[in-house]
Amino acid sequence: MSEDLYLPYGASKEETYQALLPRLQVLTAGEPDLIANMANISSALKEAFEFFWIGFYRVIDDRLVLGPFQGSLACTRISYGKGVCGTAWKEGRTLIVPDVNQFPGHIACNNLSRSEIVLPVKKNGLVTAVLDVDSDRLNHFDETDAFYLEKICALVR
Ligand code: SME
Repeated sequence: MSEDLYLPYGASKEETYQALLPRLQVLTAGEPDLIANMANISSALKEAFEFFWIGFYRVIDDRLVLGPFQGSLACTRISYGKGVCGTAWKEGRTLIVPDVNQFPGHIACNNLSRSEIVLPVKKNGLVTAVLDVDSDRLNHFDETDAFYLEKICALVR
């Protein structure tokens, strides 16, 4: 498969996710390495949506440790229950944060980040990583992002 992403020009968010999802399914199905798949998924999502920051944190012992990402430098370790990422890990559910300044304990890796969505990646019911997406716009993420990004997270087991 070609590594180029040909996405419909001027497509809606939903149309873009619908075009992207089968491409990512094919791409990840042929590659057993978790890091390689996380890296390509981060790249594809950044290219498709021009998110401010997107990346994975992997659960390693008692911390989330920075994994493949696209964007500016980021915090490398996050404790269980801390920040949006650590809370999504602890609660095992997707968190949509319309305004990061209103989220108690939000960890600001970059002050330009205004809103955020964090989704758990689960294996056998256990959170093994989280996918974190940041926007420099307020209220950027909604249930459409949650719906498709959850399907994308299911590709990185
Ligand atoms: N804002 C996150 C930290 C990770 S960075 O956004 C890349 C949090 O509160 O957990």
